[in-house]
Amino acid sequence: MSATLNTGPLTLAQMAEAVLRTADGREKTALSHRYAEMWRQSRAPNGTPIEIGTASPPLQPARPDKPEQLDPRDVPRRKPGSPEGRIAILHAIAHIELNAVDLHWDIVARFTHVPFPIGFYDDWVKAADEESKHFNLICDRLEALGSFYGALPAHAGMWRAAEDTVEDIMGRLAVVPMVLEARGLDVTPGMIKIFQNAKDRETVEAMNVIYAEEVSHVAYGAKWFNFLCGREGLDPTEEFHALVRRFFPSGTKPPFNDEKRAEAGMPPDFYWPLSDEMPAAWR
Ligand SMILES: [Fe+2]
Ligand SMILES: [Fe+2]
Repeated sequence: MSATLNTGPLTLAQMAEAVLRTADGREKTALSHRYAEMWRQSRAPNGTPIEIGTASPPLQPARPDKPEQLDPRDVPRRKPGSPEGRIAILHAIAHIELNAVDLHWDIVARFTHVPFPIGFYDDWVKAADEESKHFNLICDRLEALGSFYGALPAHAGMWRAAEDTVEDIMGRLAVVPMVLEARGLDVTPGMIKIFQNAKDRETVEAMNVIYAEEVSHVAYGAKWFNFLCGREGLDPTEEFHALVRRFFPSGTKPPFNDEKRAEAGMPPDFYWPLSDEMPAAWR
């Protein structure tokens, strides 16, 4: 990419593509922070505008040789109460965060043909910047505990939702921020508890940062999903159900973090009807 980087100002879509094409996690997130800062400066009152432009994002982002990616069924399970178990949890989170960096830059690069207000790009660049911080926070904790990202196998198939929705911006918004990232809000308090019980204050602090910032990523998803539904004259709830059934047929599962989901603009009638354990009121 360096040849391209030196020829005139990059568009935002080209920056996004460059992040997607960077394999190493620390390098990817450093580039991500740099471009997010350039975007922020360009959006300041006296900033020089950066064009959105167009790009050719790869179908799958570049990834380091390690971790080895395995089918989730083949990833060894460890007791969450043990130090090894906590390292395994952090390793899995680092993998999720790295995927999230790419998912947010991918939505920037992939859908430039869909007209959006510039705030759409502000939101996803900010989300990508935050995910880059999350990856580094968790990698720092892994390293402090004597491990590193790449030391263990990781789940393959985390990019599947992105590939399935390469041609469908509404499907992408429904599945990535509004299903997968909302699921993060459901499970994070339980993970924080594990590290509280282990008296690992630094990890608890890192995970609290992540937990607080992820609410806004789900909210960006809900906001732009509702925006598109409004523009197309579609009912957001019905549309969301149809898209999740099409692109994510395994649906959503309780327990749900109803409070944080509501804070992110996801009312219960969005997700309960997609669950097998739906209360009678939603049937
Ligand atoms: Fe994150
Ligand atoms: Fe996120």
